[in-house]
Amino acid sequence: MTPTNYIWLCRTPPWCCYTYNPCNSPADLTRTTTTYNLFILFVSTHVQISMATASFINLKASSSSPWIGQRSFNQRPGFSSRSPAARVSVIRAGSYSEELVKTAKTIASPGRGILAIDESNATCGKRLASIGLDNTEVNRQAYRQLLLTTPGLGQYISGSILFEETLFQSTTDGKTMVDCLREQNIVPGIKVDKGLVPLPGSNNESWCQGLDGLASRSAEYYKQGARFAKWRTVVSIPCGPSALAVKEAAWGLARYAAISQDNGLVPIVEPEILLDGDHSIDTTLDVAERVWAEVFYYLAENNVMFEGILLKPSMVTPGADHKEKADPETIAKYTLTMLKRRVPPAVPGIMFLSGGQSEMEATLNLHAMNQSPNPWHVSFSYARALQNSVLKAWQGRPENVEAAQKALLARAKANSLAQLGKYSAEGESDDAKKGMFVKGYTY
Ligand code: 13P
Repeated sequence: MTPTNYIWLCRTPPWCCYTYNPCNSPADLTRTTTTYNLFILFVSTHVQISMATASFINLKASSSSPWIGQRSFNQRPGFSSRSPAARVSVIRAGSYSEELVKTAKTIASPGRGILAIDESNATCGKRLASIGLDNTEVNRQAYRQLLLTTPGLGQYISGSILFEETLFQSTTDGKTMVDCLREQNIVPGIKVDKGLVPLPGSNNESWCQGLDGLASRSAEYYKQGARFAKWRTVVSIPCGPSALAVKEAAWGLARYAAISQDNGLVPIVEPEILLDGDHSIDTTLDVAERVWAEVFYYLAENNVMFEGILLKPSMVTPGADHKEKADPETIAKYTLTMLKRRVPPAVPGIMFLSGGQSEMEATLNLHAMNQSPNPWHVSFSYARALQNSVLKAWQGRPENVEAAQKALLARAKANSLAQLGKYSAEGESDDAKKGMFVKGYTY
């Protein structure tokens, strides 16, 4: 069956099950004629609606990928697939395009970036263990509450990526974490991938799980207030990367992006090229160009709207064990060269990950990238490079909460200035200069 036939079949109205009724009297005949006329009117109206609908979908389907028509059948939250209203409105209202563009632009607004606190429970446990705290829900709640209730955060932070537990969690005062963000004009986001597993047939590489059930999970996240999503997959340079691993990473990201957009969430596309290895910066450039070429190829294949996505790339740097370090100007030059060769200007924002760089390195590199205008908003979506000082200041003690929030605000402000190209590293603490790279880091 062709996709067109399939679509046509799905749109066929229920009148095909009407049965023939013989008439026994003139009254019966009148009644039957009236019924017949109404029946014909009903049928012809349905045929017209169905034909218009089918040709509309057909047009869309034939002009691009066959699966684009599938989107039209998706419902917006609150509509039942059985109600006639939904059948008519899905065609017009099935797309979140305008909202996606608006959300992406809000996140990519001048002087602001993303606070990533989407660590899985296991990874959050590592953060807590670094200051001697147990990995309990109460401790995770206390930590996330501290971060999300920082006064003035919204001036520098436009979005925050949460783990599922936090998206559905409240503060100890009973306010939802989502409301804490909204009050500060910060867009709530959600990590939707299910983590990495070994990729059979590859060179000890991994692939990212989470596509099964993603559409219904995304619809739930949207209802809960999330407006953007994140999917992190990784590419390892020392392992190759193999063509299979790159293709798998790119395809998974593209499928996730299409599903997210279909459910009103702006997808953050994150193929993290790991820092692990002793390779040169030129090797990283070569791999990054290969990876992003493939990612955009499949994003286009999946009809993803580029105006409604955000990217989360790694900066182009030498491998962590390479004999020479690169300065911020070199990193900026290589990274922007790669992005300008691969990323269309329709994409509103590039929100870098920090990947194990020290807080100060990540900020200096971002600053160097904003010394001249770019086709996109070039900003941050840091986890480690925003949280390190906070944890050190907090130490799990209630009396340190204010100091910890000040530390977060200081880092957020430094990166806001770097986004505007106005950061100075003067007065940065020794802690901010310490690298956080961990070999084989998992998120
Ligand atoms: P960092 O590399 O900045 O720690 O964060 C990566 C990430 O994907 C967080 O969402």
